[in-house]
Amino acid sequence: MSKKNLVFSGVQPTGNLHLGNYLGAIKNFVSLQNNMECIFCVVDLHAITTFQDPKKLKKNILETTAVFLAAGINENKNIIFNQSSVAGHSELAWILNCVSRVGWLNRMTQFKDKAGKDKEKASVGLYIYPNLMAADILLYKATHVPVGADQKQHLELARDIAQKFNNDFNVKEFFPLPEALLSKNISRVMSLRDGTKKMSKSEDSEFSRINLKDNPDDIVKKIKKAKTDSDPIPDNLGDLKERPEALNLLNIYSDIKGENIEKTLKEMAGKDFSYFKPKLSETLIETVSPIGNKIKNLLKDETFLRDVIKKGKEKANLKAEENLKKIREIVGFV
Ligand code: TYM
Repeated sequence: MSKKNLVFSGVQPTGNLHLGNYLGAIKNFVSLQNNMECIFCVVDLHAITTFQDPKKLKKNILETTAVFLAAGINENKNIIFNQSSVAGHSELAWILNCVSRVGWLNRMTQFKDKAGKDKEKASVGLYIYPNLMAADILLYKATHVPVGADQKQHLELARDIAQKFNNDFNVKEFFPLPEALLSKNISRVMSLRDGTKKMSKSEDSEFSRINLKDNPDDIVKKIKKAKTDSDPIPDNLGDLKERPEALNLLNIYSDIKGENIEKTLKEMAGKDFSYFKPKLSETLIETVSPIGNKIKNLLKDETFLRDVIKKGKEKANLKAEENLKKIREIVGFV
């Protein structure tokens, strides 16, 4: 049984990826590739848990691939592929549907948020989505999963499922218990309009988020309009407790600068947001615009993008089949 470190993570191809996806997850993918074997997946099976226009889905799968590359993931060193192209994800998800418990899924807060008031009308796929996520990770026996804080509960469920499988089938340590890797500085990037809500593609207002493809003018406008308050920037973190919007902007700035927030507070203490915001825009433009430009360039070469995920699929499939062979045997399939 190999206990080799292996990183797995996934991003849904549901259009315009934003600063939350980048700072909370993708930026960490890029640094992890230097020390560990990594698999990065465009999770299209997850995307269809809410209806996707097929034409847009195709475009978004390629665009998410482009985002991985533009952010700096090396396609030769790592595996980049789309989930539906490796059938093992669906097969293991079914097996894990039979291991996971209804009571466990009923506790998932993201289902409650996404299904909204009319739970009866949500797809069954949306409800059992965390089991598919566990399958994604366990199919490769991944040990480390870089994600934003919103995925932490799903990771805990994946660990429970792995543990129950190992116990039920008496195969101690067959599945490793995967560990969530959260960004130290900013595991939850908040909306620019409401510092108590996470930045999300599903929020109606474009002014709530910075998209990776935003041009510099958009970034300046969005930061100018970002909600803050009239108090100056304090010199300590404690004074930001009741000021979620201010805290969010300062966290974003610090993370991009590669500094801790205490250092930023030292630098900015006593200044107003009218002074800070242009600095933040400048910093964001320096980081986001080169990525956005690369995404736009990569999108011009669909053949290349298709080729990247095709090669990734072949490598992922080999690993998946090797593990699935053992899993089928353990479960008792002939
Ligand atoms: P998804 O597609 O919603 O988001 C992709 C990644 O971006 C992170 N993220 C954020 N981080 C910080 N602040 C935010 N505002 C923010 N918004 C998004 C997410 O936490 C995620 O890491 N279920 C997953 C995809 C998935 C997956 C997996 C992840 C499917 N299978 C297996 C890891 C391993 C999702 O919907 O992410």
